[in-house]
Amino acid sequence: MSASDIYPPPSEVSINAHINSYEKYKELYDKSVQEPSEFWGEIANSFYWRVPPPPPFLRYNFDVTKGDIFIEWMKGGVTNICYNVLDRNVHDKKLGDKVAFYWEGNEPGDSMSITYSELLGKVCQFANVLRAQGVKKGDRVSIYMPMVIELVVAMLACARIGAIHSIVFAGFSAESLCERILDSHCSLLITADGFYRGDKLINLKRIADDALKKCTEKNHPLGKCIVLRHLGRDDSVCDGTNKTSPPCKRPCPDMQTMWNPSRDQWWHDLIKDVSLECEPEWCDAEDELFILYTSGSTGKPKGVVHTVGGYMIFTATTFQYVFDYHQDDVYWCTADIGWITGHSYLTYGPLANGATSVLFEGLPIYPDISRMWQIIDKYNVSKFYTAPTAIRLLMKYGDEPVERYSRKSLKVLGTVGEPINPEAWLWYYNVVGGKRCPIVDTFWQTETGGHVLTPLPGATVTKPGSATFPFFGVVPAILNESGEELEGEAEGYLVFKQPWPALMRTVYGNHQRFETTYFKKFPGYYVTGDGCKRDSDGYYWITGRIDDMLNVSGHLLSTAEVESALVEHSSVAEAAVVSHPHPVKGECLYCFVTLRDGHEFTKTLSDQLKNLVREKIGPIATPDYIQNAPGLPKTRSGKIMRRVLRNIAKNDRDLGDISTLADTSVINQLFENRCQTVH
Ligand code: WTA
Repeated sequence: MSASDIYPPPSEVSINAHINSYEKYKELYDKSVQEPSEFWGEIANSFYWRVPPPPPFLRYNFDVTKGDIFIEWMKGGVTNICYNVLDRNVHDKKLGDKVAFYWEGNEPGDSMSITYSELLGKVCQFANVLRAQGVKKGDRVSIYMPMVIELVVAMLACARIGAIHSIVFAGFSAESLCERILDSHCSLLITADGFYRGDKLINLKRIADDALKKCTEKNHPLGKCIVLRHLGRDDSVCDGTNKTSPPCKRPCPDMQTMWNPSRDQWWHDLIKDVSLECEPEWCDAEDELFILYTSGSTGKPKGVVHTVGGYMIFTATTFQYVFDYHQDDVYWCTADIGWITGHSYLTYGPLANGATSVLFEGLPIYPDISRMWQIIDKYNVSKFYTAPTAIRLLMKYGDEPVERYSRKSLKVLGTVGEPINPEAWLWYYNVVGGKRCPIVDTFWQTETGGHVLTPLPGATVTKPGSATFPFFGVVPAILNESGEELEGEAEGYLVFKQPWPALMRTVYGNHQRFETTYFKKFPGYYVTGDGCKRDSDGYYWITGRIDDMLNVSGHLLSTAEVESALVEHSSVAEAAVVSHPHPVKGECLYCFVTLRDGHEFTKTLSDQLKNLVREKIGPIATPDYIQNAPGLPKTRSGKIMRRVLRNIAKNDRDLGDISTLADTSVINQLFENRCQTVH
């Protein structure tokens, strides 16, 4: 394959596509960027507004030299996103009996489905519960749950009453959960007893308890915790005490020993006899909808804030066009709801379109390596959205496990999370999609709320590894180090020149950090932090992060965050973390540690350090390599030269210019010590 290979949209897809040619895309695109208010105004009209957005439809300032950065879409318009994604589907579009989600559990055979009317009822009921618990508009609610329908119920219930949800991925540690609860001053936590990941029990309530204990120690005691009984769901089989006969094959955590009666309440007790109807809280389009934390280069996660109106119309529109959604589709996004992809393209976007989705709790290769393809056939999935890391993992097992299943229902395949290498792209296209299905390589970020660079399946000629062109309303540019816009074929910083409706509005509680992180380096532009190439045909190719961030299995981590976890160990004086290529994860963590005097580098120490990072951040951040580094390569001003460390990690002696290095002798020592690396 050469990078010049191209894949035109298959005619079977184009023929019925919403956007069926490049010309049609271009016509709409030009309108969307030249007349954004008119373009998005027409789209907004198809939603329910208690008070339609008054002019001006859009106000913003992207230039720090001209004042505060702000972005406002449809301010003064009054609506409710939960009403739009549920009530409108049930009452106006008569989709009440349509399945909203097929839930597929960790164990094959453990499954259920829920229709739009049932989901609406459950959301209203839980919204009433939250109100009864004293949750009001604008309050922050932390959600720490496995991939279950109730996670969707909890988030939509918050949205219904105007509370701001802050979902924390259930793979994060107690420390990370505590940090996020404190940062957003949450008043209530919703969690579950536990769940299984493959055959491993995750004792979620115990981790949540640890987090709440830490919150209390830091003077933010949380008075309320609602606990879903997920593992011991079926009372007739399991009562949550593990004393049933016959004994349960999958034991639950013993909830009684960790129950705090003055704080903890069971979800199922709270919903008893509660009404299935609930009047929504009518919100301004610019009211905050949710906070979602993403890694920041200083090490402290940033609370990315999205608002009701813009996020609603943008996720709905991108979902419709990027997956070329039609009413008879069955859509499956494998992302966890704890990440932005799960917010935008498992929850709000699909529901706004009245789509039927698969919500999968389990792992791609459990209990066997064909699980994904088996699920695709089971539900006749037509639109499938996953991450390059999952594709690379599945690719390792060859074509046979895929070919055991027909996958004939598939029409469009999507990827997100990191650059996809052409080899994985081609395997996805040739083997998974049987050369019939276009691939949409969607580039976006927690901050962008939805897809910003992406092919459209019926219109765009794709090139493996390229996210192709901007979505409607998005104006990209490539800048050089001096901030000049580069024309034509070029490589540099990827920035955006004007807002689209779902661009983040602020960093929760720290607007200055928002301005500094995204708008200060190049005034007048939103800076993504990614490098990008534009080829001679105008295609965009993301080259990866250019800040101190790395992308492990599609999850962003900051090197600073991992370094500060490592130096908490009493043997470690200093740590420097760099990204290192990994065949499945894309990138992994390679850590250099300088020990305090008198401490010895051993396998035990290396294991302890790996565990420490797991505990502090979560399993996704577990380092692959720890190397003993008696000294670190630093510039005369004391800045660690990560570029050099990346080369040492790869055993690449071509170090380029190292004239700014204060002490070159450390380099040889680090190359020699590579054998003292514990993998
Ligand atoms: C990377 C995930 C190349 C990129 C939705 C970005 C990608 C970061 C792609 C955001 C893609 C995401 N091609 N790189 N298709 N999609 N990225 O906030 O570095 O978890 O800045 O949002 O992932 O990660 P986040």
